[in-house]
Amino acid sequence: MLADRGLAYLHLVEPRGDGTGTDIRTSVDQPTAAAQFRPYWPEKLITAGGFDQHSAEAVVATGDADAVAFGRSFLANPDLPARFAAGAALNPYDRSTSTRAATSATPTIPRSATPTGSHNNFLRGLP
Ligand SMILES: Cc1cc2nc3c(=O)[nH]c(=O)nc-3n(C[C@H](O)[C@H](O)[C@H](O)COP(=O)(O)O)c2cc1C
Repeated sequence: MLADRGLAYLHLVEPRGDGTGTDIRTSVDQPTAAAQFRPYWPEKLITAGGFDQHSAEAVVATGDADAVAFGRSFLANPDLPARFAAGAALNPYDRSTSTRAATSATPTIPRSATPTGSHNNFLRGLP
């Protein structure tokens, strides 16, 4: 039984990718893997894959997950938590600047027009 393994947490990746890495939110109307694993794992459960702020808050609100991890949205928005808190717009994910195929070693990440507090101060220190 999974719950008997003594794991600190379970981290799932939802099977939502379109294979190209370009479409962040595909098949989000499908049941989550978190919902299917939850009956077998009552401890801390983190899920990831294709979430936005709304769907992440929803999966936590249902109790199917305790937290949601973000990948591509975080790469495009290093101040992602502050943007969520401020309701600020997100930069779109740009795969060309996020992989080894990137042509630029230092991607230019647009700052939020909406003040996002201390996270924005962090961004000012970036090259
Ligand atoms: C540039 C990049 C490379 C990734 N490489 C892998 C990988 O090699 N193996 C893997 O299982 N997941 C990989 N992932 C998926 C992440 O581990 C994570 O599950 C996913 O980014 C979370 O979904 P989200 O980006 O929609 O928030 C990668 C994601 C990105 C953005």
